[in-house]
Amino acid sequence: MDRQHYQDMMRGNGQLDYEIYLKTEKLLACQKEPEDFCNPDELQFMIVHQVEELWMKLMASTLLDIDDCLLTRRSLKALTLFRRVHICQEMMTQQLVLLETMSPKDYQGIRLLLGNGSGQESPGFRVLLKMPQDLWASFTSVYLEGGARSLEQIYDSEYSHDDAYMVAEALAEFDEQFQKFRNAHMQLIYRSIGVAANSLKGRPVEILNEGLRQKFFPDLWQVRAEMTDRWGGTYGRKRDKLESPDNA
Ligand code: HEM
Repeated sequence: MDRQHYQDMMRGNGQLDYEIYLKTEKLLACQKEPEDFCNPDELQFMIVHQVEELWMKLMASTLLDIDDCLLTRRSLKALTLFRRVHICQEMMTQQLVLLETMSPKDYQGIRLLLGNGSGQESPGFRVLLKMPQDLWASFTSVYLEGGARSLEQIYDSEYSHDDAYMVAEALAEFDEQFQKFRNAHMQLIYRSIGVAANSLKGRPVEILNEGLRQKFFPDLWQVRAEMTDRWGGTYGRKRDKLESPDNA
């Protein structure tokens, strides 16, 4: 194949309406030129990170709209937008696996070029770590009526599967999907640089385990545990084995 010819075609010439609207010329110039890659896997490495940044930008922007909906109790709209965020989260997790097609040896070549850069410097990730606090404040002021209603009522004693319950579950889903991303990312690190390695900032990668335990909305997880304990208080914490119908 004529490599140069196809590489030129990949760039396009930026003149067609599709290219103008989507700014493809700029977009496709956001990666290094082919001759500057340290190895062919570097293109994949850059693209996966760049695409993930774009999904995080879309998520953060959607969370701003979700917050507006929560404050005005437009719950159905909020739920549709939450679905969009959850799909982005699922895609972010799935897309990490692409990098497992890169050998540890090839990654070490790329790693030489990263300075002391770290995903903790990602603008998308940093904003996503902050936004949940604001979402929780909006949820509690509107759906928990500033403290007049409790999660216990919504989930248990006055359970009616209402909009407050649905929005709370959407927040829990966000929390869970975030953990799934962090877990998949940890697996990717183990696969690429190993379990006992240090990050480019010289820190053991094990410190990322703290993030694996972080919950944005601990109350939403606690309410389930309390329900289960109440249930256990009534029906027993340790129960008898079921009778098999064959032995009856
Ligand atoms: C071969 C692939 C990858 C390796 C070896 C890797 C490695 C690492 C390491 C060692 C850290 C800890 C850095 C520190 O101590 O500051 C880290 C953090 C992080 N990386 Fe990656 N990473 C990879 C791919 C990705 C990709 C594709 C993303 C996409 C967004 C990403 C996002 C992040 C984020 C958000 C953090 C901060 C995590 C947290 O604070 O919980 N990484 N990565």
